[in-house]
Amino acid sequence: MAGVVVTSRLPGTAVERLRAEHEVRYRDEDSPVPAADRPVLLAGAEAVVVTLGHRVDAAFLDAAGPGLKVVANVAVGYDNVDLDACRERGVVVTNTPGVLTDATADIAFSLVLMVTRRLAEAEREVRSGRPWGFGMFQLLGTSVHGKAIGILGPGAIGLATARRARAFGMSVLLSGRSAPDPQAVADLDAEVVGADELLGRSDVVSVHVPLSAATRHLVDAAALARMKPTAFLVNTARGPVVDEAALVAALEGGRLAGAGLDVFEDEPRVHPGLLARDDVVLLPHIGSATVETRAAMAGLAADNVLAVLAGREPPTPVR
Ligand code: DGY
Repeated sequence: MAGVVVTSRLPGTAVERLRAEHEVRYRDEDSPVPAADRPVLLAGAEAVVVTLGHRVDAAFLDAAGPGLKVVANVAVGYDNVDLDACRERGVVVTNTPGVLTDATADIAFSLVLMVTRRLAEAEREVRSGRPWGFGMFQLLGTSVHGKAIGILGPGAIGLATARRARAFGMSVLLSGRSAPDPQAVADLDAEVVGADELLGRSDVVSVHVPLSAATRHLVDAAALARMKPTAFLVNTARGPVVDEAALVAALEGGRLAGAGLDVFEDEPRVHPGLLARDDVVLLPHIGSATVETRAAMAGLAADNVLAVLAGREPPTPVR
């Protein structure tokens, strides 16, 4: 029997499946493990299942000890895991791609509609109790059909967002470090362009790049200055990809029409300049938050752990 540590509450049958084959230390709490509790919880683990709130660094790995074989991140992004520290210790890292693509793209396109049609503002208006009635000039938004969406990072989630945009009558521009799947480009009737061209031509820019040293503040003051003053920015990837101070300055200066954000630079802190604005829609990192998706993510993390502990290649390793 191997020691599997599940560091926070998981939905679905993942924990049961792990228990069927291994001894499992399960922390049944929906919050990250406080640093002080780590040594006792992690000591002697062969596998650790973590969620995004955990920073898996050298100290975390050392708390588990030299027997650790795998860190299974219950997320597609893995910027919370120090890959070098894992590699040095021979620890395999896995993530959960694929299973959250549609749920996250749904939220990305929901943000497009929310910010362009002023839906959060409109909902707040009804709840305010102020008298309202149909008005020709009340809460006028911006139509999306006939406009261009620019997908920065045309991986699985970016392309799934583009498919939703096509269904709403938008044209699609794609830009990324690697060339997008040619069949997807053809199906979307999309144009593959450079990042500067995408920023300059898009009516909505939707960010889908993973966070790395190369993408931190990819959307900075200079990038925002390339966007049309009538354009909207949507980010469902990682907060630090966008320079929030520069975003606030662009909005305050009237150089951008609005933003829809599911992620923030310093979660759960939100820049006060964003909180103060009606042209910004703010969601608490819920891209993958459906019952079905979270169960699938936990299930895939369990598959990864079971494979590594059985000496097999895990289904979704981080290369
Ligand atoms: C991820 O998987 O990386 C999302 O941000 C959370 O589900």
